[in-house]
Amino acid sequence: MEDQVGKAKIQAKKGRRLVLFPVPLQGHINPKIQLANILHSKGFSICIIHTRFNSLDHSKYPHFSFHFIPDGLLENDEFSTSDVTVLLRQLNVNCVGPFREILASLLSDNETHELPVSCLITDSIWHFTQDVADNFKLPRIAFRTTSICSFLDFHSLPLFRQKGYLPKQDSQLELRLREFPPLKVKDIPVIKSRSPEIVDRLLSCMMERTKAASGLIFNTFKDLEENELIKISQEFCIPTFAIGPLHKYLPGSLSSLLKQDQSAIFWLDKQAPKSVIYVSFGSIAEMDETQLSEVAWGIANSMQPFLWVIRPGLVQNSQEIARLPNGFLEAVEGRGCMVKWAPQQELLAHPAVGVFWTHSGWNSTLESICEGVPMICSPFFGDQMVNSRFVNDVWKIGVQLEKGLERGEIERAIKRLLAEKEGEEIRDRAMSFREKIYFSVTECGSSFQSLESFVDHILSF
Ligand code: UDX
Repeated sequence: MEDQVGKAKIQAKKGRRLVLFPVPLQGHINPKIQLANILHSKGFSICIIHTRFNSLDHSKYPHFSFHFIPDGLLENDEFSTSDVTVLLRQLNVNCVGPFREILASLLSDNETHELPVSCLITDSIWHFTQDVADNFKLPRIAFRTTSICSFLDFHSLPLFRQKGYLPKQDSQLELRLREFPPLKVKDIPVIKSRSPEIVDRLLSCMMERTKAASGLIFNTFKDLEENELIKISQEFCIPTFAIGPLHKYLPGSLSSLLKQDQSAIFWLDKQAPKSVIYVSFGSIAEMDETQLSEVAWGIANSMQPFLWVIRPGLVQNSQEIARLPNGFLEAVEGRGCMVKWAPQQELLAHPAVGVFWTHSGWNSTLESICEGVPMICSPFFGDQMVNSRFVNDVWKIGVQLEKGLERGEIERAIKRLLAEKEGEEIRDRAMSFREKIYFSVTECGSSFQSLESFVDHILSF
């Protein structure tokens, strides 16, 4: 009987098309493509609408149908990931018309098509898509690719302001927020921009339109964010699903925008177990030359082997590889490997990696938890501040650099994690989350079950 119900479900899914629209940034593309692959494996047919900016190589996904839309950015050099909110605001304006047009054409044959479109799944940052979906009477699912804890804190920004915590005062930075444990004033997830009013508008539209969606999904898992999951369900009052970590359902990730340098793996193969510090600050974070110098000397002075991703653009105004401080290469000779971009998920799973020094982007954080690798956290902006505080204070699976990028504190943190008893305890806790995460995506696990409920939810439209 159960078997028949299962078969009927698959049949029903085979008759449905889902339309997905990823935000064209690496940290958003990865989980969105992972989700698309999972839903495809469950029998849905997948249509991806994508901007020309950071466009995907559709030949890598022959099982999806792609529709590229003009985004009005190509002719305007001023937009880049340096001021990401200005970019996102502009895309939310420029894409309305082209998106509406392509959706209209996909829906035009819905009555007769053998695979009717049953819903739209878009990043919560694409707030304009809610109104477009409403106009077509099409249900929209919002996908927030960050942690729930950071999303809740973004939601509380007006309250932080009301309580006088914003704008941040230097004298208050270390103050704990009684109402929002474990945050300190300095962790409030503000995003620096040349147009602060654009940031406020973007965030308030995102929250408002997410509340109007027919469902909300997060790439996280219940054991990690149980209280936050309860809170978000109460505050948003829409069906909410914690279905992550998405990259653990199906092997292989092809959605990297930059070429991943496989030589990093060969280099790791020659290193002792749990000896290497893996250093990467994601796809958007930027630093100045002084900060680069502190990072470099912090690594050098730790005397540990290291693998460092120095992405083009990591140092402000340098599109090419950054200039390392004089004497650094001589100081680290024979114990380091530097690449422009790496196969991060594979690296984190490598037995030689002992610590991940990260900017605390949500994908990086989750990928590290999946492999039980303790973290050193250097958040740069936005959700990273909250993720880092939770890693340090709540989950206790890493340490945050409280002074920013300062060589003495960096060296000390590396030693704490790799050579001291405290480091062992942190590693044990990280390993125990790893076990929970693996269980969560098995048939009896919370994420697997939540994914099944999410699929049922889509089938109910
Ligand atoms: C951005 C924000 O900065 C982040 O805070 C937010 O949660 C998502 O959007 P990004 O800065 O790129 O993302 O960080 P992160 O979320 O960690 O995503 C980076 C992705 O790039 C990860 O999936 C990681 O595996 C991948 N990556 C990183 C590589 O494939 N190779 C690398 O060398 C570095």
